[in-house]
Amino acid sequence: MVKLTNLAHELIEKQQSINIAVDMTVGWGNDTLFLALHARKVYGFDIQDEALAFTRSLLSMNAIDNVELIKADHQFLDSYIKEPIDLVIYNLGYLPESDKIVRTNSSSTIASLKKAVHMINQNGLIIIVVYPDDLNEANEVKTFVSGLDSNFDVLQYSILNKTKCPFLITIKKGSFLPFCFLSKCVIRSNFHNFCIYIERKIANLLIIYNYLTISYTS
Ligand SMILES: C[S@@+](CC[C@H](N)C(=O)[O-])C[C@H]1O[C@@H](n2cnc3c(N)ncnc32)[C@H](O)[C@@H]1O
Repeated sequence: MVKLTNLAHELIEKQQSINIAVDMTVGWGNDTLFLALHARKVYGFDIQDEALAFTRSLLSMNAIDNVELIKADHQFLDSYIKEPIDLVIYNLGYLPESDKIVRTNSSSTIASLKKAVHMINQNGLIIIVVYPDDLNEANEVKTFVSGLDSNFDVLQYSILNKTKCPFLITIKKGSFLPFCFLSKCVIRSNFHNFCIYIERKIANLLIIYNYLTISYTS
């Protein structure tokens, strides 16, 4: 039986050099712990004290000290994170074995996704595990990701021979075309690393530019 959270972790393992990662739905901390082992710094959001307290002790039992846990709705991520992000994970829904009424919802999920796609680096990855028990949220997420421009590659992994199964979406932000081309020409050379470095610098400048334009126009 396919476990989508395992698939998500396999995809995380394949990402190269994760500097900043964000767990948008900390819950019992399994994804947060996994990210902490693969990223330089992790931010984790949840709205429930129970989830954050459990995760805090899970991290301390594993001697993890590169995670900042934040009690806040993930739609406000830009109030807490001021640097470009390499990887984002959402595991939507409710905290298992807890109050099912407290769960993610389409409005804050889409609001945070809109910010995440701007804050993610070139070559950055967003992973979303979606549960169709909230059909409205599942449909809104699908509609939003399907409308992203061609600078993003959006994939869906679903189990076709079973009904009402969760599915996984990945959003990968593409490279700038000239750098992508150059990188492909000289894969694994020092020049390739140089291209990635320059590309990230330009992406960071673009993010700052976006912030400034948003602040001036709002
Ligand atoms: C399915 S659980 C996450 C499982 C978790 N990733 C793990 O590894 O155990 C979903 C979590 O999202 C949290 N949540 C719901 N709405 C949220 C929101 N707007 N912002 C941040 N967290 C939220 C819930 O409190 C719950 O703990």
